[in-house]
Amino acid sequence: MRILLCILALVGFIYCAKKEPGVPYPEGYQKWALLKSALITKGEPLFDPFGGIHHIYGNREAQSAIEAGQTPPDGSVLVFDLFEAVSSDSGDTEGAHKFVAVMIKDSEQFKSTGGWGYDAFKADTKERFVKDATKECFACHKSQSGNDFLFTTAQK
Ligand code: HEC
Repeated sequence: MRILLCILALVGFIYCAKKEPGVPYPEGYQKWALLKSALITKGEPLFDPFGGIHHIYGNREAQSAIEAGQTPPDGSVLVFDLFEAVSSDSGDTEGAHKFVAVMIKDSEQFKSTGGWGYDAFKADTKERFVKDATKECFACHKSQSGNDFLFTTAQK
């Protein structure tokens, strides 16, 4: 009996300790390091998917690697956080929160997309809306293969 319980406990432990597959919602990312902010206006090439004001955040692993000019290790997470831009006399300010796009590094799990897992969440409902990350995300990020598929680099 005792042995059986021990085996059960061990199996349970192994099962629980296993990492959740996929790309989790990046809870608390607004408190991570802000790596960049930018505005994409009408007429610019990326306006269609990404028009508005965006911020790029990195967790500790991502931030220190990017700042040191190194390849981010497994566990690194980057967030592309997009808001509508609202023009007024005092300048462009943030309007509605559109979506939260995420890249998480796990070289084994996401081998086919350069070691990064991609997903995006609607800002209000946190509903996932990426159907095929290879086509919708990696196809474009692939152009950055010389920088580990990232557009963001260390800020001067
Ligand atoms: C048409 C090209 C294109 C597509 C498609 C694309 N991205 Fe990006 N992504 C960019 C560009 C350009 C930047 C850098 C923006 C900047 O520097 O301000 C970026 C930045 C990011 C970043 C910040 C890290 C980095 O590379 O700088 C994340 C996270 C991200 N994208 C996630 C996604 C996800 C998830 C998808 C799929 C839903 C996606 N992207 C699709 C062009 C693209």
